[in-house]
Amino acid sequence: MASFADDGRAASVGVSNFQPAHLARIIDETGVIPAVNQVEVHPYLTNEAVRAADAGHGIATEAWSPIAQGGVLDDPVIVEVAEAHGVTPAQATLRWHIERGDIVFPKSVTESRIRENFDLFGFSLTPDEVTRISALDRGESGRTGPNPDEFDYIPG
Ligand SMILES: NC(=O)c1ccc[n+]([C@@H]2O[C@H](COP(=O)([O-])OP(=O)(O)OC[C@H]3O[C@@H](n4cnc5c(N)ncnc54)[C@H](OP(=O)(O)O)[C@@H]3O)[C@@H](O)[C@H]2O)c1
Repeated sequence: MASFADDGRAASVGVSNFQPAHLARIIDETGVIPAVNQVEVHPYLTNEAVRAADAGHGIATEAWSPIAQGGVLDDPVIVEVAEAHGVTPAQATLRWHIERGDIVFPKSVTESRIRENFDLFGFSLTPDEVTRISALDRGESGRTGPNPDEFDYIPG
């Protein structure tokens, strides 16, 4: 993949589900610093250690399942923050990611939701609101997907 970036076939290359040790290993063994690390991040799994490792290497964090597949949308804190700004819980959650500096790519097959999920730039959250949403972190129990340190299969 690094050769693709070297010869121009790719503008940049990144990784997914890399834990800090995986990042250290790929950088040590190849000298290549990935442009981005796509990992699970949402209010119930704030994934701070991985985000800090990414930042330490200058790697952008890209949050997959950024609304926890819808699982955070009924959370009272998120509902309250959303109501304070006149936006939906999905928009408040996606804006929280942006305030923290992460890339988001929510998935929807619903046109109105796709439009809603792009409409994030007419409001901003206060530092206190960002802190309150970050405090919803549930650690390992907040994951919707497998822990990358234990993931030992390739989906068919
Ligand atoms: N790299 C990896 O290992 C990895 C792992 C998992 C996922 N991903 C990627 O991450 C991306 C997003 O993750 P995801 O699909 O798992 O979860 P997600 O984006 O957090 O949630 C998607 C779910 O939320 C609903 N939704 C979307 N926008 C909404 C809104 N504004 N209001 C209410 N509900 C809304 C969608 O419903 P509808 O579609 O019915 O509208 C869908 O059921 C996908 O492209 C996926 O491929 C990557």
